[in-house]
Amino acid sequence: MKLKKTLAKKIEEHRPRTTRLLKEFGDVEVSKVTVAQAIGGARGVRCLVTDVSYLDPFEGIRFRGRTIPETFEVLPKVPGREYPYVEGFFYYLMTSEVPTEKETLEVVEEFKKRRALPQYVKDVLRAMPRDTHPMTMYSAGILAMQRESEFVKQYNEGMSKMEYWDPMFEDVCNLLPKLPVLAAFIYRLKYKDDDQIDANPDLDMGGNFAHQMGIAEPYDDVARMYFILHSDHESGNVSAHTTHLVASALSDAYYALSAGINGLAGPLHGLANQEVLSWTMKFQEQLGGKEPTEELVREALWDTLNSGQVIPGYGHAVLRKTDPRYTSQREFCLKHLPDYPLFKLISMIYKVAPGVLEEQGKAKNPWPNVDAQSGVIQWYYGLKEYDFYTVLFGVGRALGVLANITWDRALGYAIERPKSVTTAMLEEVAGIK
Ligand SMILES: CC(C)(COP(=O)(O)OP(=O)(O)OC[C@H]1O[C@@H](n2cnc3c(N)ncnc32)[C@H](O)[C@@H]1OP(=O)(O)O)[C@@H](O)C(=O)NCCC(=O)NCCS
Repeated sequence: MKLKKTLAKKIEEHRPRTTRLLKEFGDVEVSKVTVAQAIGGARGVRCLVTDVSYLDPFEGIRFRGRTIPETFEVLPKVPGREYPYVEGFFYYLMTSEVPTEKETLEVVEEFKKRRALPQYVKDVLRAMPRDTHPMTMYSAGILAMQRESEFVKQYNEGMSKMEYWDPMFEDVCNLLPKLPVLAAFIYRLKYKDDDQIDANPDLDMGGNFAHQMGIAEPYDDVARMYFILHSDHESGNVSAHTTHLVASALSDAYYALSAGINGLAGPLHGLANQEVLSWTMKFQEQLGGKEPTEELVREALWDTLNSGQVIPGYGHAVLRKTDPRYTSQREFCLKHLPDYPLFKLISMIYKVAPGVLEEQGKAKNPWPNVDAQSGVIQWYYGLKEYDFYTVLFGVGRALGVLANITWDRALGYAIERPKSVTTAMLEEVAGIK
């Protein structure tokens, strides 16, 4: 595959930079750590390295140096569709080079060969109670496939550290194409009486996902957009950091991704997209058929805050303005579903919530994040089972975190082991007698 050859070349070119930094500049200080950071989730401590994406607090995410609109613009598009191939985007994330159409299609074809879900995964999932959360099923499905790991096989045979990235890359390319298939299988198992739809050999990753979900066009484009937007948000967020942390023990891609997905399943992280929809539905129920107004939205938001809960879909640990992933999805809505009542309500919340959060004065960022806008699109295209939404996030997130752990192996990143201190030690540092 040209993807693998390009990656090998990029790795060779990159390695001396990391080696030089370590050898000649290892003592240079990057960041200080305050008491608040030690207690408060290491917020803002600069101690992770990734070149796959960078998150500027005001500008938002750049994938390999490009903004979201630039990324969509530059990548090869599926003929007749609005959004690029997810496979081409993966090539780009992995190598930083924009693939040609031919290079993209080579990945599309290779991924088709690798996407079939093993029978035992289906058996495992069918054995689980049907009311199991789809994120649990998704994580379990990934973990069940760990026996396939090439990395483990080659590690057990004895392999040089310099070669680690190669079987990691193979694991990633075996796992990634199966994820949308796994997600669609879980969806049909849980919500459609296990009435499964076979893969269509003519379709790319996004197209086949829509097909196996049983949702018509333009849901294929929704899937492409969604997977790309949710792919990567640098390394410190819970799902990316967990995947990296677990992989740092030389655990393979299956172990690492399954762990990262478990982190994504938390309500302060990926599950917020489910929470946004459930909040909105409850609000509509309370209205009992009345037209929503800004005043009613404001009251409901205050009720949520006053009962000690967070407003889902708003705020961010790093961002300090509207998330461009929110904006990108909003633009999709403005084009495809401008008059849809639920979209209008989501827009009304966008108008009111930042002011409410500012008035409350706690959140450092009152603006919406990616999760505030994603559910309404799914709902519009008929995917109303909102506890499934985080699985979609989890398929997208895999693109970024799997690219990252391949590079972790290529650059020989160490096992993670930050140091802890006791509360008494912090008190001593603080000068408390
Ligand atoms: C994303 C999030 C976890 C970031 O947390 P953070 O970095 O600690 O955020 P802040 O530094 O702004 O938090 C300061 C305070 O504001 C509160 N706050 C932040 N966002 C809030 C929100 N959307 N609603 C209510 N309160 C919020 C925090 O809970 C915290 O309160 P505390 O001092 O009582 O503990 C937080 O904004 C949040 O819970 N948002 C809602 C869930 C969500 O949308 N998650 C998806 C993120 S992509």
